[in-house]
Amino acid sequence: MRIASVSDLHTDYPENRDAVVKLAIAIHEGKADVLVVAGDVSHKNDRIRRTLAALKEAAPIVAYIPGNHDLWFDVPFAPAREDLDTWDRYRRELEEVATSAGAHYLPSGPLYVGDVAIVGTCGWYDYSLMPEALREGIGREALESKQYGGVMWSDARFVAFRDATGALMSDIDVARQMERELLAHVAEAETRAGVEHIVAVTHHQPFDRVVTHTGQMPWEFFCAFMGSEGLGAVIQSSDKIRHAIYGHTHIVGDHDIDGVRVYGTALGYPRERHGLTEEEVVATRVGWIEL
Ligand SMILES: [Fe+2]
Repeated sequence: MRIASVSDLHTDYPENRDAVVKLAIAIHEGKADVLVVAGDVSHKNDRIRRTLAALKEAAPIVAYIPGNHDLWFDVPFAPAREDLDTWDRYRRELEEVATSAGAHYLPSGPLYVGDVAIVGTCGWYDYSLMPEALREGIGREALESKQYGGVMWSDARFVAFRDATGALMSDIDVARQMERELLAHVAEAETRAGVEHIVAVTHHQPFDRVVTHTGQMPWEFFCAFMGSEGLGAVIQSSDKIRHAIYGHTHIVGDHDIDGVRVYGTALGYPRERHGLTEEEVVATRVGWIEL
């Protein structure tokens, strides 16, 4: 079985909509049986729907996990809006969008194809991917504000995960809930008869070793929002997981973490591909595995 993957298509950029067509052609020509979309298509439902429907032309099965951008509410400041809950967007609204495009919505449960199970969660961040010494120096309050040197991580404006009482949840609690979601999907796939391989998909990054560290601020401050090590622990808990796909960072990466191939092939923003030919983009922004 041939599994192709893409992430961070950011189709609000017209250049990226053109690039997605090129990627789709390559995925079709590469005879993918399944295409994984590892998040950050757009915050606009119609654009997510149209992108997934277009990618459905490239591969017979498309599996989608939302990224943080896909979770954004199109309002000036979501935390102040008590009528908005990102869990509802994650669990219900985006499932409807994906399903209407003919895609499998991974947060709702594993996708089974032959002897392969594909499991996934958006994942979240708990600041564990920021170097510990810097984390301690900067303090919890600054991390929770998601602001440094006058720059704000935009999730602070457009995301509002709420608990059962309607109170805003901390990033750490959201990260734990996402990890539990992935663990439940892995457990289900583990016990399913005939499953030999489990492929894990997370939008956020699951290991510190796949994060690019510069040692410089403000870069390292924003590493706090890259993912959680708890996602990696779930991936390492199953012997059937030998492949893990991530998105979120726009830096292409391919790593061996204790025998697990952990990789991401984000398309990213047009300015980040400056100088690359069309062929280079197609060659580096689609991940492939054969199982
Ligand atoms: Fe992202």
